[in-house]
Amino acid sequence: MKKIIIAIDGYSACGKSTTAKVVATLLNYAYIDSGAMYRAVTLYFLDHYVDITNPKSVAKALANINIQFHLNPKNKENETFLNGLNVEKDIREMRVAEKVSEVSAIKDVRVAMVAQQQKLGKSKGVVMDGRDIGTVVFPSAELKIFMTADFDIRAERRQKELLEKGELIELDVVKENLAKRDQIDTSRKESPLLKDKEAVEIDTTHVTFDEQVEQIIHLAQNAMITT
Ligand code: CDP
Repeated sequence: MKKIIIAIDGYSACGKSTTAKVVATLLNYAYIDSGAMYRAVTLYFLDHYVDITNPKSVAKALANINIQFHLNPKNKENETFLNGLNVEKDIREMRVAEKVSEVSAIKDVRVAMVAQQQKLGKSKGVVMDGRDIGTVVFPSAELKIFMTADFDIRAERRQKELLEKGELIELDVVKENLAKRDQIDTSRKESPLLKDKEAVEIDTTHVTFDEQVEQIIHLAQNAMITT
């Protein structure tokens, strides 16, 4: 069957990554977490005290950043490597979440990441999730999904995820972070988060995880035949 690109965009913590991973596994496709790339850039900027208001410092830092994904044979998950080091755990920390939307709004950062993402999707057979995948990275993706969920549900899900990773964060703090990121991500000048006109919207507030996966698989199978 024809290999396609599946672009999944949407707000933070609405279940994009978990859904995208399972969809990719079921289709035997590669899963690429574009948010992990922006998080890795942010981690580098934090650790190297990069002044994000200075374009020269940003350009210099970007030239020193190499991001790769490697499959961990133990848990079968793609993990993020920054300049050869596994940063999968570090990039999920709150200190990164607090800065990532500001960093992602910088044009040079986006240009560098989008170029890499397009390379990763060149041979198709890819599920990629993020904010601008269907609109900017792969505007001709055969299937575009826009995921949403109620704000409070998203905050509870994210708090649980952070706890599972060892960070206990007050619900109000998680909410504040999500609200701030939603605001920056949707209002920025460069590639704001918006629903592409071709995207199918899935609200994950009331559907079960299996239902949302099934819906995307069904749409993907149709797209493989009709596009
Ligand atoms: O995990 P969560 O859903 O909270 O976010 P993420 O997918 O890891 O993305 C983290 C941040 O990276 C987002 O809040 C955006 O600011 C930025 N991002 C972006 O600008 N464009 C993308 N394609 C993916 C993420």
